[in-house]
Amino acid sequence: MKPLIIANWKMNLTFLEARFFAERMPHYPNLIIAPPTPYLGYLAHNHQFTFCAQDVSIYNDFGSYTGENSAKFFKSCMVNYAIVGHTERRKMCGETNIIVQTKAQNCIDNDITPIICIGETLDTRQDNKYIEFLTKQLKQSLPDGEVIIAYEPIWSIGTGIVPSIFQIREIIDLIRSLDSKARVVYGGSVNSKNCRNILNIQDISGLLVGSASLNQDELVKILNC
Ligand code: PGA
Repeated sequence: MKPLIIANWKMNLTFLEARFFAERMPHYPNLIIAPPTPYLGYLAHNHQFTFCAQDVSIYNDFGSYTGENSAKFFKSCMVNYAIVGHTERRKMCGETNIIVQTKAQNCIDNDITPIICIGETLDTRQDNKYIEFLTKQLKQSLPDGEVIIAYEPIWSIGTGIVPSIFQIREIIDLIRSLDSKARVVYGGSVNSKNCRNILNIQDISGLLVGSASLNQDELVKILNC
């Protein structure tokens, strides 16, 4: 099976730029695009790619939740995946493991596959407390259902530093020991030069790509790597 390549555009690109990107992008069945939320409905209705939300609300039902976007909304826009618990949201918005678990459960209840992000800081790794930290983060963030886990060490996101194959492999094994059915993807400074090495790791199901996914030539190279 082809590895999943998840393009996380974060808060980048105007609507016209995103539309132009989608119009020029060749179709790859294993590509999942996570554009900014306001563009999702339009893009999903006009393009054949698989789309992903960058976050979902903790609220599931319709109601007075100004500004929130529920999993139900995304499903109605033909969105089949959602990133939950990205480290930027855990940090900026104070999202706890319990919040992440609620969001992930809302996804599953609406037939959306949650991509749950976990990852440790450099201090936690250097203090040799990362196994304990990631175990707790994962156990408390897991909903009841089928998930994708994105291992994204915080010290690797946007830094150009990529963990060794051994380090990634160790965390894949840890995740599998806690959830044997989970698919595991890696994220953090992925680009067209390092993607092949990472995808060669046994049991890895794909890559979560941030900044490199904003450059179409680079994204195509990653899809072809
Ligand atoms: P990066 O981001 O590829 O720019 O490091 C990855 C992510 O935050 O998902």
